[in-house]
Amino acid sequence: MAALAYLAAHATERMQRPREDLLTKLVQAEVDGERLTSNEVVNFATVLLIAGHITTTMLLGNTVLCLDAHREHMARVRADRRWLPGAIEESLRFLSPFAAVGRATTVETELGGARIPADKLLMVWIAAANRDERQFARPDEYDPTRDPSPHVAFGRGIHVCLGAPLARLEGRVALGILLDRFPDLRVDPEGPEFIPSPNMTGARKLPLLLAS
Ligand code: HEM
Repeated sequence: MAALAYLAAHATERMQRPREDLLTKLVQAEVDGERLTSNEVVNFATVLLIAGHITTTMLLGNTVLCLDAHREHMARVRADRRWLPGAIEESLRFLSPFAAVGRATTVETELGGARIPADKLLMVWIAAANRDERQFARPDEYDPTRDPSPHVAFGRGIHVCLGAPLARLEGRVALGILLDRFPDLRVDPEGPEFIPSPNMTGARKLPLLLAS
């Protein structure tokens, strides 16, 4: 509730004092003479905050975990940053931040041989699809050299992640800086604490050792 009020106050402020930012663009957006209501602006900003912030945070932690557990890949990425995008891509497959997404059927349908009636809520498991041995050889192995890697960590279809290019860019920049700055980076053997949610895969606490 506090977060919604916080965003609403910022949206109101942008109506009075426009700035060069996304919230200003949302309050000013107009299609066929119609604008977003303030509730819609706040909801949109909330989606962007959740979809764009926690997910990328999970991606960063997950990639550190994967590289720390596979020192040969860590060494390769350290030696040549051109290997970093592959390491990020494989961490998205191997530890998918959004493990599941919700769907509602509008008509009776069939999925994987199962009949599903109309008006049912489903959880569709991205993390399971990303370990499907019909799509990926040795699916339980972290292998950044997979090519192609048809993972669905960013979803698929009309709702495919709007922020995927930004998330990949943020991952490359942030992890590149982290590796540059800390040549002896290790995950603390005390280990990570994971977000206690079945449909999110990511650390909420990831203690690191910065020097050996
Ligand atoms: C590693 C980072 C990210 C992951 C794993 C991720 C994952 C996803 C997934 C799986 C969906 C599809 C949801 C569905 O089908 O129901 C989605 C949608 C979306 N994502 Fe991301 N996302 C990430 C980063 C971002 C960023 C950085 C932004 C924006 C700043 C963003 C904005 C969105 C939006 C707006 C949607 C909804 C698209 C629509 O419904 O048309 N995401 N994301």
